[in-house]
Amino acid sequence: MKKNNETKKENTQFSRRRFLKSSLSAGLGLALAGPGADYALLGQGAGKKKKKPGDLSIAFIGAGSQGRVLLESCLRIPGLHFAAICDIWEYSRRYAQRYLKKYGHIVNVYEDYRELLTKEKDLDAVVVATPDWMHAEHANACMEAGLHVYCEKEMSNSLAKARSMVETARRTGKFLQIGHQRRSNPRYIHAIDKLLHEKEILGRLGQAYAQWNRAKSDMLGWPKKYTIPQAKLEKYGYASMTHFRNWRWFKKYGGGPIVDLGSHQIDLFSWVFGVNPSTVIASGGSDFYKNREWYDNVMVIYEFETKAGTARALYQVQTTTKHGGFYEVFMGENGSVVLSEVPQKGNWAMREAHAPEWDSLVKQGLLKSETAPIQKVTTKDIFVDVRVTAEAGRWPLPVELAKPAHQPHLENFFDAIRHDTPLNCPAEVGYECAVAVIKVNEAVKNKRLIKFRPEHFKA
Ligand SMILES: NC(=O)c1ccc[n+]([C@@H]2O[C@H](COP(=O)([O-])OP(=O)(O)OC[C@H]3O[C@@H](n4cnc5c(N)ncnc54)[C@H](O)[C@@H]3O)[C@@H](O)[C@H]2O)c1
Repeated sequence: MKKNNETKKENTQFSRRRFLKSSLSAGLGLALAGPGADYALLGQGAGKKKKKPGDLSIAFIGAGSQGRVLLESCLRIPGLHFAAICDIWEYSRRYAQRYLKKYGHIVNVYEDYRELLTKEKDLDAVVVATPDWMHAEHANACMEAGLHVYCEKEMSNSLAKARSMVETARRTGKFLQIGHQRRSNPRYIHAIDKLLHEKEILGRLGQAYAQWNRAKSDMLGWPKKYTIPQAKLEKYGYASMTHFRNWRWFKKYGGGPIVDLGSHQIDLFSWVFGVNPSTVIASGGSDFYKNREWYDNVMVIYEFETKAGTARALYQVQTTTKHGGFYEVFMGENGSVVLSEVPQKGNWAMREAHAPEWDSLVKQGLLKSETAPIQKVTTKDIFVDVRVTAEAGRWPLPVELAKPAHQPHLENFFDAIRHDTPLNCPAEVGYECAVAVIKVNEAVKNKRLIKFRPEHFKA
C-alpha cells in the first residue's frame, strides 16, 4: 500500500516536473539574453506597488508560456503598473498572479476578457498572448475599448481575421504592435539596416536561408488537478484538454510549425530584401506524428523581385530532428551574414576573398576583426580549388543584447504610447508576414506555386 502511494507521488511529481519544463520551454527569452544580461527585476520584495503618475497601466490576456515570458520582461521595464491578468485556465492565472505578487504587484484576476474590459477602467495597454486563433477577437476588443495592444505573433491563423486587426488599429488610432521581436533586436537592426542596407557589405543580395529544427517531442500534458471541465473548454471553443494544451498542432487554433516558428524568420526575408515575395513553392507533410493535424515538416522556396534583380530564400522547419537548431543566413556576392536569436549560433559576417576590404568597417566600430583566417587547405590531394571552397573567417558583429530577447520590442511599444514614436512591427508589417507565411500551408496542400501581387500584402 505504502509502495503504491509512493509510486503515485513520484508519478505526480514526475508529470509536474515535466509539465513545468514544457511550460518554461518558451521562457527561452531568458536563455536568449546572452552573457552580461541584467537579470535584476524591478521591485522584488518591496511591498505593494501603487500606480505612480506617468505610469502606464497594463493588463495581460493569456498568461501561458509566452505570456509569462512577456510578463517577466515587463517587470524589467520602469514606469509600468500591473493592473490585471486574464486567462481562462486557473493554472496560468495563479502562476502569473503569484509571480507578480512576489514583485509587489497585486493584480486583479479575470477568467473572461470581457469582464476585464468592463471592470478595468484605468488601463492604457494590453499584452495579448493567447493562442493565435483568439488574437483578433482579443486585440480588436481591446482597441475598441480605447487600449493600445501588444499582440503576439502569429497575428492570426486566418488572413481575414488578421486584416480585421489592421482595420481596427487604423480606425481606432491605437498602437498595435505584433510580436515579431527580432524587429527590435539591436543585433538584427545593426546587421540588416546598417551592414546590409546602408553599408551594403555583401554587395548584391541574392539568397537567404533559414531554418528552425526541433527534436521530436511528445504532446504537452497538464497537472490533472488543473483539468478544465469539458463544458468550460467548449464554452471557450476548445474540443478537449489535449487540443487546449497542444493548440499549435490543430487547424482550428493555429497554423502549425511553419507558421508558429517560420514566421519569425520568414519575416526577416522581406526586411532584408526590401520587398515582399513574388512567388512561393513548398512541400511538407504530416509524415511522422499521426495524432496531429498540421504538417510536421515543411520546406519552402520564395522568390523576391528586388531592385537589384531576383533573389531567392530557402526555408525549412523540422520537428523530428534538431539538426542545426535555428538561425538565418543572408548571402550576397561579397559574403554572408549569419544571425540567430541565440548569438552563439549566429552573430557574424563572412567575407568572400575577392570582396572589398572590411578593415575600415572595423575601424568605424561596425564589425569586429576577423576571428579566424581563411582556412588553410592544401590542394595536394584534393582536386578542388580552395580559393572558391575554403570557409571564410568570421567577423563578429559588435552589438550585444544584454537583456531578454522580447524586452526591446516591448520597450518600443511602450515608447510609442508615451512619445508617439514609430512601432517596429505595426499591424501592416505583421500582416505582410502573415500573408507570406500562411500561404505556405496553401502551397503545401495544393502542391502548386503561388504567385503574389503587391496588393495581396495590403490589408
Ligand atoms: N514571440 C515569440 O517568440 C513567441 C514564443 C512563444 C509563443 N508565442 C506566441 O504567444 C502566444 C501564446 O503561446 P504560448 O506558447 O504561451 O501558448 P500557451 O498554450 O502556453 O498559453 C496560452 C494561454 O492562453 C490562455 N487562453 C487560451 N484561450 C484563452 C482565452 N479565450 N482567453 C484567455 N486566455 C486564453 C491559456 O489558458 C494559456 O494560459 C501564441 O500566439 C504564440 O504564437 C510567441
